[in-house]
Amino acid sequence: MLLSVKFKILVVLTGLVAMSSTVFRTGEGEFKNLQVLPKNISQKDLQEIMADDFEDGLGVACNFCHAEDKDTHHIDYASDAKPEKQIARYMMRMTLDINKDYFQKKNPLIGDSLIINCTTCHRGQPHPENF
Ligand code: HEC
Ligand code: HEC
Repeated sequence: MLLSVKFKILVVLTGLVAMSSTVFRTGEGEFKNLQVLPKNISQKDLQEIMADDFEDGLGVACNFCHAEDKDTHHIDYASDAKPEKQIARYMMRMTLDINKDYFQKKNPLIGDSLIINCTTCHRGQPHPENF
């Protein structure tokens, strides 16, 4: 009984590890299509930005911005097929500019402790103008 519980936990954990490493690793552990974030960003930092700033900040799931591959039906994270992803890039640049130009934050980076971040405006909603 105890043994089978332990086994189930192990199976679940192994599954989670496998899942997160396939989601966040592309080839040699490098990301293919970063235009705003640093190209050498660590998996951990990218994961935190996607989950905390973007998913929680806008109250959406990954597929709000990321398109599905038509053949495999898996999310293709490097694809720019969804316009929301491109809007998110404009928003990232805008957010960095606001911090730099109006709050004198030197070398602002998405995911750092910024003065203005996605959550400041979005508050868990994709459309802040509808409050
Ligand atoms: C609000 C939109 C948005 C949401 C939600 C979002 N992402 Fe992203 N994601 C982006 C943008 C924009 C980029 C590209 C950033 C850049 O160009 O620097 C990106 C890039 C990535 C990349 C790098 C792909 C590559 O190889 O270039 C991965 C992996 C990724 N996201 C995973 C996720 C996961 C997993 C989730 C859900 C937990 C998620 N994203 C949620 C907008 C989003
Ligand atoms: C200064 C306030 C502000 C900040 C900061 C901000 N946004 Fe926005 N965002 C808005 C507003 C307002 C809209 C709606 C614009 C419209 O509908 O024309 C919007 C719309 C969006 C959309 C489009 C939603 C849709 O359904 O089309 C995305 C995606 C988005 N923001 C992502 C982000 C991300 C990611 C960040 C952080 C990097 C961010 N925003 C930071 C104000 C902000």
